[in-house]
Amino acid sequence: MKRVFSGVKPTGHLTLGNYLGAMRRWSGVDQHEADALFCIVDLHALTVDHDPGRVRRLSRQAATLLLAAGLDPKLCTVFVQSHVDEHARLSYLLECVATDGEMRRMIQYKEKAAAERARGGSVRLSLLTYPVLMAADILAYGTDEVPVGDDQTQHVELTRDLAVRFNQRYGHTFVVPRATRPEVAARVMNLQEPTSKMGKSDDAGPGIVYLLDEPEVIRKKVMRAVTDSGRDVAYDRDGRPGVSNLLEILAACEGGNPEGLAGVYESYGSLKKDTAEAVVELLRPVQQRHKELCADPAYVEGVLREGAEKAREMARPRVDTAYRAIGLLPAG
Ligand code: TYM
Repeated sequence: MKRVFSGVKPTGHLTLGNYLGAMRRWSGVDQHEADALFCIVDLHALTVDHDPGRVRRLSRQAATLLLAAGLDPKLCTVFVQSHVDEHARLSYLLECVATDGEMRRMIQYKEKAAAERARGGSVRLSLLTYPVLMAADILAYGTDEVPVGDDQTQHVELTRDLAVRFNQRYGHTFVVPRATRPEVAARVMNLQEPTSKMGKSDDAGPGIVYLLDEPEVIRKKVMRAVTDSGRDVAYDRDGRPGVSNLLEILAACEGGNPEGLAGVYESYGSLKKDTAEAVVELLRPVQQRHKELCADPAYVEGVLREGAEKAREMARPRVDTAYRAIGLLPAG
């Protein structure tokens, strides 16, 4: 059975982008057809200026939302990254395989470092090494597939390069993974700025639909989405980014394809109305289940505890092998 690994970073409230780009497939196909692990990657949330209490709250909320979105601990492993030491252990070895130049070429590093500097802040070293930790997350488990949105493709490519390089230098140790992306909505855009990604770490804004937004808030955000100057509804991601984003969201919710849906609508207004309703209906059961799970925090904690135990057992042998392969003495 193939091994699947993916994760979500508790740096903000989870968004429709996270759901359509990644989470929905985790609870759909991935957990049923693979030996799958899903991780709240909390160490990654420390790479930018953070508030400890907020990271804790968001980690709990992310775990609860993953379960609310349908992850079933009987079918897959759900856990928190910092509960399993193997991630950090392996990350250091991979830092000894990766190069400084490689890290500085990462688009997310360049963007986030520039934003941090523009704010007058300093850039944490961990922001630069973040993709290596992500590679460790993936490689520790012998992962075959990594279901992610578009923005993570470059990081998974780096992971592949590091796996191949390690294997060539020190002997076959790691499976070389590949990214998988959804057919539509691999990059959900900000409703107010349809040329930028809908990102959870951005400041709260009218262009971001959060998974826990009330139905009325969702309707308002979608109805106020920025559209394009043309009048007809056409699917063209470069020329008509606003309308195309709505068509992708609608297609992802209803299972159609965005080009086909474009032909169905004559006005932006009716497209927005249907998209808003589709998103409300998509998120309704997730929100309902989230409410139920919030009333039972002990259940969520139990899932995470058992998940971490299982994950540790899965990761340790491979990370131990990597330690020996690279030339470190066994502890005895
Ligand atoms: P993160 O937390 O930013 O996002 C979690 C997942 O959601 C996807 N995603 C989107 N998909 C479509 N449209 C969007 N607007 C959108 N925004 C986010 C992301 O592509 C991702 O799949 N570095 C990762 C977390 C991570 C990870 C890993 C993922 C750490 N280690 C190992 C996979 C495997 C991140 O920051 O995701």
